[in-house]
Amino acid sequence: MSPLLKYPGESSNDALSPEAKAFAHSRRTFLFKLSILLNAAVGTVLAVPLVGYLLGPVVKDSDAGAVGSWIKIGEADDFPVGETRLADFQSPVTQLGDGETGKVACWVRRVADRQFQVFAVNCAHLGCPVRWFAQARLFMCPCHGGAYYQDGSRAAGPPERGLFEYRTKLDGNSLVIHAGDMPTLATQASCKERPLIQIAPAQAATRSIPWQT
Ligand code: FES
Repeated sequence: MSPLLKYPGESSNDALSPEAKAFAHSRRTFLFKLSILLNAAVGTVLAVPLVGYLLGPVVKDSDAGAVGSWIKIGEADDFPVGETRLADFQSPVTQLGDGETGKVACWVRRVADRQFQVFAVNCAHLGCPVRWFAQARLFMCPCHGGAYYQDGSRAAGPPERGLFEYRTKLDGNSLVIHAGDMPTLATQASCKERPLIQIAPAQAATRSIPWQT
């Protein structure tokens, strides 16, 4: 029997040779260090999402200046002249751990070599994502039949205005947009320097009522 093996009740390893004792000691030390290492690794893996959750608001606050910043959505060459393509960008208001949900889709129309239009995908009626139909050259909303021309202006349906449009510029060969603000009827996606033209409240129909005339 190996000198390292002991039967139950066999209490000491006094009978072991100094070499066997040293070996047993170094093995215990190794297993102890290995267990510490594994515990540290597991603790780190578990701590990352927790720390991200706790620090999320702080990171968000410190990053507040990024709201409305210029964000690259691709190279100009990614968008052929005359075509409209779907693109996405990382929202500047996302938090640590948002992952794919932090991406925002947009429609990019390249009008001319250095002229672009970038639209929010959300319908100006109630926010459903609109789709681009190249043959018809229309954006169509699947929810209530809203339709927009290729330049984003309203064509038909319940929306009271055209698609929300981001400001764009070329930074070298990169297409960048002014993003971060949620497009609503009160704020445009790019509203800092060129305020949204507010929609005038719908005029009440002035119909004469026969028994009042
Ligand atoms: Fe698009 Fe209503 S949400 S038409």
